[in-house]
Amino acid sequence: MTMTRNETLLASAVDAIGETPLVELSRLTRGLDGRILAKLDYLNPGFSKKDRIARQMIEDAEAEGMLRPGQTVVELTSGNTGTGLAIVCAVKGYPFVAVMSRGNSVERARMMRALGAEVVLVDQLPGSVPGQVSGGDLALVEQAAQRIVIERSAFRADQFRLQGNFRAHFLGTGPEFIRQSGGQIDAFCDFAGTGGTFAGCAAAFKAFNPAIRCYVVEPAGAAILAGEPVSYPNHRIQGGGYALADLPLLNPAHVDGYLQVSDTEAIEIARRLAREEGIFAGFSSGANVAAALRLLQTDCRGGTVAVLMCDSGLKYLSTDLWQAL
Ligand SMILES: Cc1ncc(COP(=O)(O)O)c(C=O)c1O
Repeated sequence: MTMTRNETLLASAVDAIGETPLVELSRLTRGLDGRILAKLDYLNPGFSKKDRIARQMIEDAEAEGMLRPGQTVVELTSGNTGTGLAIVCAVKGYPFVAVMSRGNSVERARMMRALGAEVVLVDQLPGSVPGQVSGGDLALVEQAAQRIVIERSAFRADQFRLQGNFRAHFLGTGPEFIRQSGGQIDAFCDFAGTGGTFAGCAAAFKAFNPAIRCYVVEPAGAAILAGEPVSYPNHRIQGGGYALADLPLLNPAHVDGYLQVSDTEAIEIARRLAREEGIFAGFSSGANVAAALRLLQTDCRGGTVAVLMCDSGLKYLSTDLWQAL
């Protein structure tokens, strides 16, 4: 008899990462021709998809001899990768330092500290607004992270560069989508931060069926990957859209198109996901579904679009994503 993972006793919370459910959003797509399949990655132990890359980056580094037992791990994070790393490092016995912009929501820092991480908060640029972390703010966080790595002789779990970010989605998320949908996927769209989710899933989809179209989602006014001028770097969609022209993990050959989503659209759809589908997720999940809804009305009419529900709405209780309700 083969047992599914949920019927098995797991050795740690790290073993509970991944294998998240795939759900059809049939209420939000009512009246439209086609389907949206949403992967509930907020059900990971750290309540985001970034648990996957945390585990993969650490386990790859262990396998390659890049990480010594007990060595400090450092990473720059908008909170989700840090939470994943805090979980993986707690279980595996590595001290972890999360370097984060003060512009990210307070829940994230509190959760990482609760999981045993040391959290270093970096001030935003003068004139930046809390809740709106720009590429410039991120550059300051990067400088701080580099300094701490040297000071502590630490291992940098660099999510923008390490292949573990790509591999987590190439080996895990993408194949899970394919298996759970019975291979019935026509398109995938994803709001890019590091681009690791897009890169890994797109590579898995293209390997399975090159006809699956893959779209990068960016904030309206910060769509640098689409080659647009950046007029609105301080958008509200936390976790990505940093207006960084060079994302080392992203393979442009796998990009079939670019979609732009406004703050208002991402927020409206995140609220509708909660109210109509019972899916309590964050801004970027709203952005992904907003883009998928547009695809069903344009390029992918009649098709099936796959998206990730990147993180939990609980991470934004202090923001007006829910406060205004
Ligand atoms: C909430 C959220 N959405 C989207 C992303 C972007 O994912 P990726 O870095 O794989 O492009 C992140 C990354 O941190 C995130 O935390």
